[in-house]
Amino acid sequence: MASYLIRHSPRLSGEVEVSAAKNAVLPILAAGLLTEDPLIVRQVPHITDVEMLLQILRDCGAEVSRSGSDVSVCAMQPQSPHHEETMRRLRASILILGPILARTGSACVGLPGGCAIGQRPIDLHMKGLQALGAQVHAVGGMRQLSGRLTGARIYLDLPSVGATENLMMAATLAQGDTTIENAAKEPEVVDLANCLNLMGARIAGAGTGTVTVHGVERLHGAVYHPIPDRVEAGTLLCASAITEGSVLVRGACAEHVRSLLFKLQETGVGIRETPCGIRLSGTAIAPFELRTLAYPGFPTDMQAPMTVVALKCHGQSLLQETVFENRFMHVAELARLGARIRVENNVAMVDGGTELKGGVLKSTDLRAGAAMMLAGLIATGETILQDPSGHIERGYQDLPEKLRSLGADIEKIDDRA
Ligand code: EPZ
Repeated sequence: MASYLIRHSPRLSGEVEVSAAKNAVLPILAAGLLTEDPLIVRQVPHITDVEMLLQILRDCGAEVSRSGSDVSVCAMQPQSPHHEETMRRLRASILILGPILARTGSACVGLPGGCAIGQRPIDLHMKGLQALGAQVHAVGGMRQLSGRLTGARIYLDLPSVGATENLMMAATLAQGDTTIENAAKEPEVVDLANCLNLMGARIAGAGTGTVTVHGVERLHGAVYHPIPDRVEAGTLLCASAITEGSVLVRGACAEHVRSLLFKLQETGVGIRETPCGIRLSGTAIAPFELRTLAYPGFPTDMQAPMTVVALKCHGQSLLQETVFENRFMHVAELARLGARIRVENNVAMVDGGTELKGGVLKSTDLRAGAAMMLAGLIATGETILQDPSGHIERGYQDLPEKLRSLGADIEKIDDRA
């Protein structure tokens, strides 16, 4: 059980390095199941979600080894995982399905878990795999799939990131050509496609709404360096904006956070894109309106951190969540610090400019937990952030240490103390 003691912090300043993207690394590691050669992934962040997926990959019969920040996955004979309960702990666990099915012609998986931000169905994954020729049988909480995959034309009712990734991976070894229409355009989808192509796949159109895959006999190993984490970069930029700081987030890719940068500039902060990253300076004062959408729209993963930015702005900001049905769990917690936020019909109305006073918060999910950590930086006095499920360490490598290196007064406390 983790807890953090956060005190009102001075202006953050300095430079901080962003880690590789959790949501790129997870599907890329799963892609290691598509070949009997070693797939080596560089700069893999030390976060719990990665450790959980590596455990699942081992359970699928892959040889997994870590050397520093490099991870090697080698799946000579992949098989379905034996321990269904580990799949429940990680939403990304569903991404082993396409690769195992494509490699072996059969797969049996449990339903994935993940944050409580929504129901998180997998119907689009199943429909797409059925279109590729898989027979799907539901046996309790398990899904049994079988069949040799053949190319197909698939239309996704929603531009699902995970479904696009799963189907793209499955299609690489299918016989014939596959087209995925209304595909997700997220940078992490493009990164996966780039890695798959390095492994010998023939994918075109990743990042557009239409992805085409020409199936091949086999894929081979590769060495791949994933993209930087745009959500971590955004979270660090928000930390600077709420403390009137001046921070350079080294390694951040401005193209991946374009919608966030425009929104932050609307609040009055200055943004400078440099060859080594993104610098934010000044403070957020002007209220704003935003709506979360699939990429390149405003990212849902940045909605909670931006709620804290809105608390600094003088006036009412509106944040509409359109991607997940339960992604305002941070609101009730922020109210414990005196935040005035009303939620109606998936719109958070934030009355900014009121002083926040330190208190005790409990993390509810990954991005909400990060938002609460940011809120502790601007609340007067001390804030204790309890994180019994270890949400923050699931998705951020060394977030407290990175904030502390910029001047934040924050420390991880052992609850036994
Ligand atoms: C990925 O989740 C990310 N996770 C999420 O990040 C991110 O918020 C999300 O994409 C949206 O960008 C990883 O990449 C590991 P979706 P994913 O399928 O793939 C509905 C974080 O904090 N849907 O694009 O699960 C679904 O319910 C996490 O790092 C179906 O209806 O998201 C949701 O409303 C949180 N049926 C919407 O689509 C399906 O079969 C978007 O989900 C699949 C999804």
